[in-house]
Amino acid sequence: MENPLWEFFQARNNGPGIHKWLQYFDIYHRYFSKFVGQEVHMLEIGVQSGGSLDLWRHYFGDKLFLYGVDINPYAKALFDSPPHTRIFIGDQQNRSFWAEFRSQVPRLDIVLDDGGHTAQQQIATFEELYNFVSEHGVYMIEDVPPGPGSFLAYAREHTAELFGHYASNIPGRFSATKPGLFTKTTMGIAFYDMQVVYEKGRHARPPLPVRKGKFWMPYNTDKNLSSADGGVDAGHLKNFQEALVRSRSSD
Ligand SMILES: C[S@@+](CC[C@H](N)C(=O)[O-])C[C@H]1O[C@@H](n2cnc3c(N)ncnc32)[C@H](O)[C@@H]1O
Repeated sequence: MENPLWEFFQARNNGPGIHKWLQYFDIYHRYFSKFVGQEVHMLEIGVQSGGSLDLWRHYFGDKLFLYGVDINPYAKALFDSPPHTRIFIGDQQNRSFWAEFRSQVPRLDIVLDDGGHTAQQQIATFEELYNFVSEHGVYMIEDVPPGPGSFLAYAREHTAELFGHYASNIPGRFSATKPGLFTKTTMGIAFYDMQVVYEKGRHARPPLPVRKGKFWMPYNTDKNLSSADGGVDAGHLKNFQEALVRSRSSD
């Protein structure tokens, strides 16, 4: 697949360094391409040498508003050029830092957490920013290790919440919690090699199974359709075949 992010990265022999894992480029392009050419507000946590900021500018175009966060105070000197690029210095584990950050940024469509990579940092950041991300935004966390106490374990808990709408109306088939804000604002969660991606979006509500078409096969639990020995009844089979043919006519 043609990937402008990968091409830009490969051509980067001079200038500010970009530090990535190879497998991330396809995932970036898969989730970020819908924002290309649009007004998009992106936060990258962990800017290090600044090369990735060049990468995002090149990829998204002139309508990108880019926010970088790093704990290293020298990062500010290198890349701060408001309003389109702003660098904030702070510790991503510090929740009051995020409160101040939110008060200074109009919106976020993409969050890429490539900062300190500890579970505590990733979780505190997620809890402070997820609800701030716009309705169709993307929240990506990288360098996620497996194991107890990891962000991966934390994210797994969210998977049950995706099914929260079905907790009460189909007892016994779904055992999730009641729908909360997370359920209502999250389309899906994807797990990749060292990355977790949350896609925001609204579900169709109320939950509504939809059917179209004329021919309906009964559920296979209908015992009345069986022959005397419990197998397929030739008469019923013929009826189904004829009904199937009739169903294709437009009247
Ligand atoms: C892997 S580097 C970022 C690489 C960069 N995104 C790139 O693609 O080239 C991680 C960065 O996170 C920063 N960092 C480490 N701990 C942090 C923390 N607690 N809060 C914010 N930034 C942190 C480091 O200073 C470093 O610049």
